[in-house]
Amino acid sequence: MTPTFRTSKPDSAADPSRPHLILVGLPGSGKTTVGQAVAAATGRTFLDIDQEIERREGRSIGQIFGEKGEPYFRRKEREITEELTYFGNMIVSPGGGWIANSDVVSIVRPPAQLVYLRVTPESALKRLGPMRAMRPLLSRPDPLTELKRLFEARRAAYESADHVVSTELFDLQRVIQKVTELATAGLHP
Ligand code: S3P
Repeated sequence: MTPTFRTSKPDSAADPSRPHLILVGLPGSGKTTVGQAVAAATGRTFLDIDQEIERREGRSIGQIFGEKGEPYFRRKEREITEELTYFGNMIVSPGGGWIANSDVVSIVRPPAQLVYLRVTPESALKRLGPMRAMRPLLSRPDPLTELKRLFEARRAAYESADHVVSTELFDLQRVIQKVTELATAGLHP
C-alpha cells in the first residue's frame, strides 16, 4: 500500500521520477523554515519528518523521547525514510540527527540530493532560543556543550551533502533564494 504523508500539498502526487531535495543540518539551522519557503517558491511538496512522526504518534518529539526512547524515534525516522522511496520531488526536512545513520540516508540517496545548511553550534543555539526546550537532546544543563558534541560527531556526514549553503554568511532570505536556485536547477553539481 502506498503510504500517505500529511504534507504541505496533501493532494499532490509527488513525481517519483524526480529526486527529493533533503535539507540537513543542526537543530536551529533553519531546515523547516527554509524547506517550507523553498517548497512554496517552487510548487514542490514539503515534508517535515519530525512533524510527520508527531502526527502519527499523537505526541510531541519530547514525549516520544521521554516515553519510548531515542531508538524508537530513530526507527520511526527510518520507516518514513523508507516510505519516501514511493515518492519523489519533495522538499524534505528531517531532524538534525537523521544524517547520523548512514544506512538510513542510503535508503533514499541516491537519487535524493542533500543540501547542508551550515551553522555554528553557537548561532544555532541563539536562533533556537526558547524553542530549545522542544529538543530533548538539548534540554540538558549545558546545551552548548551538547550541541558542539553533536556537531563534531556529525560534521563529516553533514559536509558530505551535495551542496552546502552557509547560514552564517547569508541572511534567511538569501539562504532561501540559494536553495530555491538549487531546487530549480535540478541540483546538478
Ligand atoms: C534531533 C533533532 C531534532 C529532532 C530530535 C533529535 C537531533 O530535529 O529530530 O529532537 O538528533 O539533532 P531538529 O533538527 O529539527 O531540531
